[in-house]
Amino acid sequence: METPSGEHRPGAVAVVGATGRQGAAVTRHLLGGGWRVRALTRDPSGLGARALQRLGAEVRRADSEDIGSLRPALAGVHGLFTVQNPMTSGLEAEVRQGRNVAQAAADAGVSHVVYGAAGVGQESTGVGSWDTKVVVAQRFRELGLPLTVLRPMAFMELMTDRGYYPAISVWHVMPRLMGESRPVGWLAVDDLGAIAARMFADPGRWVGQDLGLVADVRSIEECRGIWREVTGRAPRGVPMPTLLFERFVGTDLTTMWRWLRTEQFSMSTTRTREILPGALTVRQWLERTRGRRSADHQR
Ligand SMILES: NC(=O)c1ccc[n+]([C@@H]2O[C@H](COP(=O)([O-])OP(=O)(O)OC[C@H]3O[C@@H](n4cnc5c(N)ncnc54)[C@H](OP(=O)(O)O)[C@@H]3O)[C@@H](O)[C@H]2O)c1
Repeated sequence: METPSGEHRPGAVAVVGATGRQGAAVTRHLLGGGWRVRALTRDPSGLGARALQRLGAEVRRADSEDIGSLRPALAGVHGLFTVQNPMTSGLEAEVRQGRNVAQAAADAGVSHVVYGAAGVGQESTGVGSWDTKVVVAQRFRELGLPLTVLRPMAFMELMTDRGYYPAISVWHVMPRLMGESRPVGWLAVDDLGAIAARMFADPGRWVGQDLGLVADVRSIEECRGIWREVTGRAPRGVPMPTLLFERFVGTDLTTMWRWLRTEQFSMSTTRTREILPGALTVRQWLERTRGRRSADHQR
């Protein structure tokens, strides 16, 4: 299949987690780039799935707990983007699901896997939801699948997405444990989608790469300042004792934020900007998000 600009698209790309934050962004950018997309979901009749179908994706039912449902869903595809969410499934299930996806992709002979991972690119950090991704990525490699690993650090949506409870987490417990002035590497979810689509468009360059993705480096203190300048008021923080936060959310995030307080690791924007020169900074992203919100409000 050829795009209007003459680029060759060798087949469809399946997206595991297509109705989620990352998967939906990847699906949109792949469709926009002329790819056929097979969006996998446990609920093809759900709102998210139907929205993807309206955009032009083929929606298929598959549950990553059930390799028997993954095999037909991946049959015949050229590429695969896959992401799991340990916050909703738990760490053991994340690994189990990742391994099932890897096996089904190997059985289907997928030509390029782009894995939506996380972390700082080190093994055995003690941060559960980073270490699981090292295990899953290793499984793809063991099975001989051509793999690109994408490791966004912190999504800018942590500041606004209600599902992340920003008032409690990013504006309160996170800086208390990590330090207000510790640098954080940020990326907008939509830019993750754009970058993933670029990986599929140029496999010769990206297969075998493990990429930390950072578009802007800003401490929480700096983000508060930018927020104030863009919106005219401070972001709302809701104080919560760490033990109470851990009781509701678990210890993965608190372990991560304590790790980030003390450990050293690379956090450069250079690579991300080479891939996507227009990747949004925190300020640009907040200005756009604010613009979208006031437009929604006026509707
Ligand atoms: N928050 C951050 O700043 C950050 C930064 C870097 C990386 N990460 C990583 O991002 C990942 C989460 O990505 P996300 O935010 O895009 O997740 P998300 O919005 O929760 O989406 C996950 C999707 O996975 C699907 N899913 C769940 N269980 C499934 C199963 N058993 N079989 C098949 N599909 C299943 C769900 O779709 P259906 O319900 O339609 O099946 C859901 O839409 C985590 O691994 C996290 O570590 C987060």
